[in-house]
Amino acid sequence: MAALLLGLLLFAMQSPPLPSRPLIIIIGVRKGGTRALIEMLSLHSTVVAAQNEVHFFDWESHFQKGLPWYLSQMPYAFPEQLTVEKTPAYFTSGKVPKRIHQMNPNIKLLLILRDPTERVLSDYTQVFYNRLQKHKRYQPIESVLVKDGEINLGYKALNRSLYYIHMQNWLQYFPLESIHVVDGDKLIKDPLPEMKKVEKFLNLEPQLNASNFYFNKTKGFYCLRDHGRERCLHDSKGRAHPHVAPAILQKLYQFFHEPNRKFFELVGRTFSWK
Ligand SMILES: *[C@@H]1O[C@H](CO)[C@@H](O)[C@H](O)[C@H]1NC(C)=O
Ligand SMILES: *[C@@H]1O[C@H](CO)[C@@H](O)[C@H](O)[C@H]1NC(C)=O
Ligand SMILES: *[C@@H]1O[C@H](CO)[C@@H](O)[C@H](O)[C@H]1NC(C)=O
Repeated sequence: MAALLLGLLLFAMQSPPLPSRPLIIIIGVRKGGTRALIEMLSLHSTVVAAQNEVHFFDWESHFQKGLPWYLSQMPYAFPEQLTVEKTPAYFTSGKVPKRIHQMNPNIKLLLILRDPTERVLSDYTQVFYNRLQKHKRYQPIESVLVKDGEINLGYKALNRSLYYIHMQNWLQYFPLESIHVVDGDKLIKDPLPEMKKVEKFLNLEPQLNASNFYFNKTKGFYCLRDHGRERCLHDSKGRAHPHVAPAILQKLYQFFHEPNRKFFELVGRTFSWK
């Protein structure tokens, strides 16, 4: 009997988590607020989050290691718990939807988006600071955004903000009901209502409440309260954007008008960015 119990225990400890364990993925978008979303989701007692971005479905070197490797990257979870991972690059990577679908066609996906213009600036800012830190050369924002007087479609960060292009790709594999779009602009301004929608989408017991969030006036954004423990997101999250000439900014907003409309049509819903 003791041997049997020990055997069972060892089995439970050694066996990789089963593919059927409830897993949800935050697929993007880069600079959309994925870190805030996963942290806020982790406040829920039945959610456990992977600490790192796993990059399984988009990086060949990881994908080749197979599903058992992927699942071994996940934190321990009790059977009734949901595991969540976030890899913001998934949203804009063409091969990822098919691969996730092959793993589980019924998976629930979270996508957090914000104003595409703001997102481009934030994307640029992150690269800018990374290069600055490494003492590398960087191009001023105007010269990457505009080429020969026109918006530069070759700029990758700009492409990432063409949400409808990437969404079309996902909708070839998943029904719209499987992808919940979190409004990143609203989540930052007022987290609770957006998080209640996420709880509902994931069929989680309603648990998050106003006491989980408090506004830090010095920082100018919300911090989290987890069983009395207070925690703010990393400071870089509030980094100032570069100054962009108003005329270029205006051009950018106009440029996104049509792509945004197409995205709204795809998801049957509008956002504050137009
Ligand atoms: C934007 O990215 C998508 C997906 O990677 C690609 O198919 C498309 O050609 C790109 N568009 C432009 C204008 O570069
Ligand atoms: C909010 O949730 C916490 C635990 O998650 C609970 O202790 C507290 O009573 C709740 N507050 C309200 C106002 O419901
Ligand atoms: C609010 O933000 C300031 C500035 O980053 C920080 O020093 C302080 O600890 C924060 N306070 C709380 C209660 O989170």
